[in-house]
Amino acid sequence: MNKVTASAPGKMILLGEHSVVYGKPAVALAIDRRIKCTVSASSELLVNGRKASGTIAHPHIRSVLKDNGAANVSVDAVTDIPTSSGLGSSAALSASFSLAVRKLFGRETDEESIAADAFNAEYTAQGRASPMDTSVCTHGGGVALNCPIGRHLWTFSKGGNSWDVTEVDVPHMTFVVGYTGIHAPTGPIVERVRKYKEHNRFASDIIDEIGAITLEGVQAMAKNDTEHLGRLMTQNHKLLSILGVSCDQLNKLVNASLPLSYGAKLTGSGGGGSMIALTDQPEKVCEAIALRGGVPMIVHTGIPGVRLEE
Ligand code: MEV
Repeated sequence: MNKVTASAPGKMILLGEHSVVYGKPAVALAIDRRIKCTVSASSELLVNGRKASGTIAHPHIRSVLKDNGAANVSVDAVTDIPTSSGLGSSAALSASFSLAVRKLFGRETDEESIAADAFNAEYTAQGRASPMDTSVCTHGGGVALNCPIGRHLWTFSKGGNSWDVTEVDVPHMTFVVGYTGIHAPTGPIVERVRKYKEHNRFASDIIDEIGAITLEGVQAMAKNDTEHLGRLMTQNHKLLSILGVSCDQLNKLVNASLPLSYGAKLTGSGGGGSMIALTDQPEKVCEAIALRGGVPMIVHTGIPGVRLEE
């Protein structure tokens, strides 16, 4: 085999971002946006036909290669997940690239190995991370971390924290994503929260409260209680704002969606990126988001995870 193509979905975090970095519960869903990576053997590292410069560019790609005992390949990526949008572009890249590299070099291609490669890549690139984004982009569907519900997938530990990752059933729900158009790389925001938490007991209390809300939300989702789940999402957004990771544009899009939704919140690391609304009036929510300068997209869930493509 001299050329392998693999794809992986983007994600949205329903509840629990940031607090999950400290081992608290979280739940995330794969969405119908994907990245496709084609990998072939090469004597130098080529990314979309260009020679990768220095040793720090493309940290996710370099980390996956290192974990698989390789240094050079040619990789071509095509994606409809906007970069630094809170929708899992780097996690999906890491997962699809890991599957393609593993297949190319004849290594195991089980989900747990791919999720481990992708988590390592994210942790290395971000400086600190949970395995939430990489687990859901690998497995697809819905995954919960540190929640006493669902089928066990894998357990990962790093930096003094441990995450038990389970697969959870996702009832039919309609979500609208509102992308602010503001690029917000995750690493610096995660670092800001770390400093806040280190110096302020109040930040730790907020993180604990987000964990408690998430557990309640996972139960609400299991009972298909959309109204309760929506209220908890909105509460989660308020707590994330107090933690300092929202921004004016995210708040604007959340507030515009709320009268037409069960609940709305930022999704991902915040500071820009995207918000989500749980609604049964998706077209109207899309209009409200577009009117405030956001880019709306109706997303579907129940999406397959990482896979080989023709
Ligand atoms: C980013 O999508 C989610 C964060 O919780 C970081 C992480 O879990 O690695 C902010």
